[in-house]
Amino acid sequence: MKTLLELITIEMETAFENAGYDRELARVTLSNRPDLCEYQCNGAMAGAKRYKKAPFMIAEDVASRLENSACFSSVDVVKPGFINLKLSPDYVAAYLNDMAADEKLGVEEEKNPKTIIIDYGGPNVAKPLHVGHLRSAIIGESIKRIARFKGHHVTGDIHLGDWGYQMGLIITELKKRKPDLPYFDENFTGDYPEEAPFTIGELEEIYPTASAYAKEHEDYREEALHATYLLQNGDRGCTAIWKHIMAVSVADLKKNYERLNVHFDLWKGEADAQKFIPDMVQMLKDKGYARYDDGALVVDVQEETDNKEVPPCMILKSDGAALYDTTDLATLVDREQEFHPDQVIYVVDKRQELHFIQVFRCAKKTGIVPQETELTFLGFGTMNGKDGKPFKTREGGVMRLENLIREIEDEMYKKIMDNRTVDESEARKTARTVGLAAIKYGDLSNQASKDYIFDVDRFTSFEGNTGPYILYTIVRIKSILAKYEEMGGSIADLKIPAPAGEYEKALMLQALKFNDVINTVYEETAPHKICAYIYDLANEFNKFYHETKILAEEDGARRKGYISLLVLTKRVLETCIGLLGFEAPERM
Ligand code: ARG
Repeated sequence: MKTLLELITIEMETAFENAGYDRELARVTLSNRPDLCEYQCNGAMAGAKRYKKAPFMIAEDVASRLENSACFSSVDVVKPGFINLKLSPDYVAAYLNDMAADEKLGVEEEKNPKTIIIDYGGPNVAKPLHVGHLRSAIIGESIKRIARFKGHHVTGDIHLGDWGYQMGLIITELKKRKPDLPYFDENFTGDYPEEAPFTIGELEEIYPTASAYAKEHEDYREEALHATYLLQNGDRGCTAIWKHIMAVSVADLKKNYERLNVHFDLWKGEADAQKFIPDMVQMLKDKGYARYDDGALVVDVQEETDNKEVPPCMILKSDGAALYDTTDLATLVDREQEFHPDQVIYVVDKRQELHFIQVFRCAKKTGIVPQETELTFLGFGTMNGKDGKPFKTREGGVMRLENLIREIEDEMYKKIMDNRTVDESEARKTARTVGLAAIKYGDLSNQASKDYIFDVDRFTSFEGNTGPYILYTIVRIKSILAKYEEMGGSIADLKIPAPAGEYEKALMLQALKFNDVINTVYEETAPHKICAYIYDLANEFNKFYHETKILAEEDGARRKGYISLLVLTKRVLETCIGLLGFEAPERM
């Protein structure tokens, strides 16, 4: 279904052409003076020079061709040559009914869907999830849902950090604590135990302890590095411990992401890329892309047009070890073989931008991915506390995700209980749903690349540009619809009538922008524009609600008309929050 903006642009183009002007001039935009009109066209101004005519005259010519237009109820020419447009109420209603009849509310699926991989989440196994990983999960999940809604084939990959020094640290610490475990016995040839020698709780304590200890004790650090080396070279005992670490951590991660309503299709990680490294390195050498620099193997990626230095991509350290660059390149080899993607999107902290510039250039230059593959780095900013510094606990430590979520939920619980519409156990459940919305909306309503301040008080407020406000609006609509049904009304065979009042029309005009907004959001990878849109939509709905007797309306047909509009508004809001990755409760 064409967007309304496209439809009225076509209408204006025809009018320009019929009046003897170039149709290219007929660009229509949303009005920036909503008090005067709904849409506007400034094409007459642009045509003045070309046709050596006063813009006002051109505008008058065009307007005269629109006298019988079904789209507009008024076409006003204003000096020096603006064309101010108001939509005909019938036209608006017809558009909304088409939208309501469409499964995707008027959003057209892509005719040539792309195969897209989204690399997001990126937690490091065995280290507790912290708020830094929250943004990647929230933004990535939303982008995945938006691209899918547009009909693309999207695979979300968590890309675990599961192959680094933290593994060596854990192995070393475990050996110190439980030296008698068979994993450390070189002569052991039997089957290792199936059960892990630690719980998730222990694991989470082992890592920070080992990490701190290694900073103070060089010999311990050496040992951890050696354990990492052994693991990466297939040592049997280390590999068995690694598998335990993976199983225990991944089970815990799944629980955490589930709670965030974040779902990955692939649970691959850095370790999975390792087997692609030897052939890749050989290829880089054989084709002459790689060179040795001080013992390290590197690929140059500096380009002539760069105005600052872009260091070479590091493939192997002088001791032969692979690095972060290597793993990301090998992951692309894997992805190319398995999916041959049209696009790979990385949702990662923007401080890693240089790494991705190097990797992307190297991958293109060496043919690891074809020239036409789009490699997109979506760098996000830092989540800061109210003091403007990276978010910390009250004690100044790294805030664990679980605690952050709990804090928000407790706050939500208090607010919901203050409302006294639900009992305690329902309030707990509702607090989870609304708390998640508070966190996600608080994050997604900011442009991803910007830093933002995580403000519990503001994010959990029922008023203002917040998740809870949006949910409150949806819940309000649900409650009106439920009452309507209780009164014997039916929510079947609905048809939206032409708007009679100003607030009703304003709400309709906002609702019908949905497909246009979603197209832009997809093209610009900009979920924050969904937030801006639903905030406006919720505001228009609430104004309408306060100005209109809906259930008390005596004219049955008109009452049903209002209900039709409410049903559509609710669908639009729910679809939008679904794309953001959260949902609304029944009551709150
Ligand atoms: N594990 C990494 C980190 O915590 C993020 C991984 C991002 N994705 C990637 N393909 N490099 O910093």
